[in-house]
Amino acid sequence: MQKATLNVSRIRQDFPILKRKIKGNKTLVYLDNAATTQKPIPVINAICNYYMNYNSNIHRAVYQLAEEATLEYEKTREKIAKFINAHSTDEIIFTRNATEAINLVSYSWARTNVEKDEKVVLTEIEHHSNIVPWQILTQEKGAKLEYVGIDDKGYLNIEEYKKYIQRDKVKLVSVSHMSNVLGTIMPVKEIIKMAHQKSIPVLIDGAQSVPHMPVDVRDIDCDFLAFSAHKMLGPTGVGVLYVKREILNEMPPFIGGGDMIREVHKYDTRYNDLPYKFEGGTPNIADVIAFGAAIDYLNKIGMDKVREHEMDVTNYAINAIHDLKGIIIYGPSDVNNRGGVVSFNIGDIHPHDLATIMNDHGIAIRSGHHCAQVLMERLDVAATSRASFYIYNTKEEVDAFINALDEARRLFRI
Ligand code: ALA
Repeated sequence: MQKATLNVSRIRQDFPILKRKIKGNKTLVYLDNAATTQKPIPVINAICNYYMNYNSNIHRAVYQLAEEATLEYEKTREKIAKFINAHSTDEIIFTRNATEAINLVSYSWARTNVEKDEKVVLTEIEHHSNIVPWQILTQEKGAKLEYVGIDDKGYLNIEEYKKYIQRDKVKLVSVSHMSNVLGTIMPVKEIIKMAHQKSIPVLIDGAQSVPHMPVDVRDIDCDFLAFSAHKMLGPTGVGVLYVKREILNEMPPFIGGGDMIREVHKYDTRYNDLPYKFEGGTPNIADVIAFGAAIDYLNKIGMDKVREHEMDVTNYAINAIHDLKGIIIYGPSDVNNRGGVVSFNIGDIHPHDLATIMNDHGIAIRSGHHCAQVLMERLDVAATSRASFYIYNTKEEVDAFINALDEARRLFRI
């Protein structure tokens, strides 16, 4: 593995929250980055700057403030298109989050394309946001939902996948690029290639991958890609849906209202050009603009470096906790195949109790089912504890985390 080259101590200075004290005097160790990441000063400043200097609505008025706001908002769209290597900005739709992006596909594309007895294929690692929209759709349509299994290490059972897509009537494959619980990085290029041989479109849930590694939509050739700003240094309330232009052209609108129209008459409407046709109502202007600052920040570091750093920290963490008595770590052991997410259980300590003890040490980890109850059932556990890393996490923080775990283990006499 290559040596990580991020200047983490320099990066940490950009995140004021990392200086926070918890429980009086404990320095915050933030290890819940799969849930949401912290925000650097340029992102926070971009929000303040919008509200202090050019707050106005976009795409409507001709006065200077509105022009500035429109320009900055659209600049983020350009940055996103480049970031994921889309063909054009037309393919980038702003939503509230990755969940809404997936729902946009299920309500618009799938409602017109999936019929009775046809199938949507998912996997057992999916987050609820890539399950529930498909349950709603298939129940409404009398269609079927199928889950490709994973093996005990958390890898997709690729032979089973091949069998599923060889069957008739599969209309869509929808797969998470990286599991938010196991960290498994799915072989999406292979998955997409096989689906396309059967002319089946593929949606990639990139909520956990786009923030952590280079993702190139032309290279993987996905038809849809959903992700969220807040998991990649940006604000909450902004998501992205990428859709291949030729598919987008055929999709009916999602939310009806202002801005998504060209002309409205009493009984009919001509919709706006792409991608505005899919962005009804006043959007989250300040936060989209600030998302642009987050992308600038990540670009300055380089996504290859982000990935390298996370592999380094994750490898260090897995090796260090591996020997703790009573620990079970879920997911692939090879960091080449997993992201910076480590889910585990120690003996019979309930994950919520463990997270509470960690909090006493100033350490923030997530516990519970991680919005992936289908996967919990597959793993045969009710819950796990989860540490997840990002660009500002250090090996010293991992050490603090391991020491706290060891203390908890001794406290529970494991
Ligand atoms: N999907 C987010 C997580 O895994 C909320 O924590």
